[in-house]
Amino acid sequence: LTPQDMVGLTVLVTAGPTREPLDPVRYLTNRSSGKMGYALARMAALRGARVVLVSGPTHLEPPTPVETIQVETAAEMHDAVIRYAHSADLIIKAAAVSDYRPESISTQKIKKQAENLVIPLQKNPDILAELGRRKGQQQILVGFAAETHDLDRYARNKLSSKNLDLLVANDVTLPGAGFDCNTNIVRIFAADGSVEALPQMDKNKVASEILHRTIKLLRTHRGGR
Ligand code: PMT
Repeated sequence: LTPQDMVGLTVLVTAGPTREPLDPVRYLTNRSSGKMGYALARMAALRGARVVLVSGPTHLEPPTPVETIQVETAAEMHDAVIRYAHSADLIIKAAAVSDYRPESISTQKIKKQAENLVIPLQKNPDILAELGRRKGQQQILVGFAAETHDLDRYARNKLSSKNLDLLVANDVTLPGAGFDCNTNIVRIFAADGSVEALPQMDKNKVASEILHRTIKLLRTHRGGR
């Protein structure tokens, strides 16, 4: 039986990739399927939370009862997240946001030209960093880190530089972890310096483990509620 320990809480989850258009037929994106974020939204709703899911393009059915806002670009994800952030008790950013977008979007299909084509890119806003700067005193902020090397170093750096309460890091080169598969292998870094390495498990189970830890943090922040 799922515990009803999130009744009365509002949870904002992001999931999936972003798509950054280049011309009317092409875009930059990444390998995120949305499975990790959708599992978090589904499991939080099952525990009784009101859930808002901001999702990049995926092939997944939106979980019910979850308010799902479909976005495409990092800029659209930024606007949707900022709109809902102030009312959220807990924010979990599982989306794989494109760090860069093409500097300009061609209105016409880019035609084949010389042997080499250089496309200038511009940095996207770091949504998680902005949430960390504006974090409310009662709010819990959880980020993810998708790494291919030096996982611990990058994870600890993201945890502190983005003012997070928890950072869930996955080594996306491991079989059974990261993009698109149904399981994940994560390490959870907490602001108190602790680290927990979880074994390979279904993404729904990973989601439950993350939620369990955030509920404990919320209770501590709110004086044992
Ligand atoms: O969707 P699946 O196929 O199930 O795959 C799951 C996953 C691998 C996408 C997921 O487990 C994961 O690791 N998500 C974060 C991917 C990512 O973009 O990591 P990052 O290390 O580049 O970003 C760090 C954090 O900053 C993330 O919480 C990200 O949402 C956030 N970010 C990044 C860039 C940006 N411009 N804005 C952000 O908010």
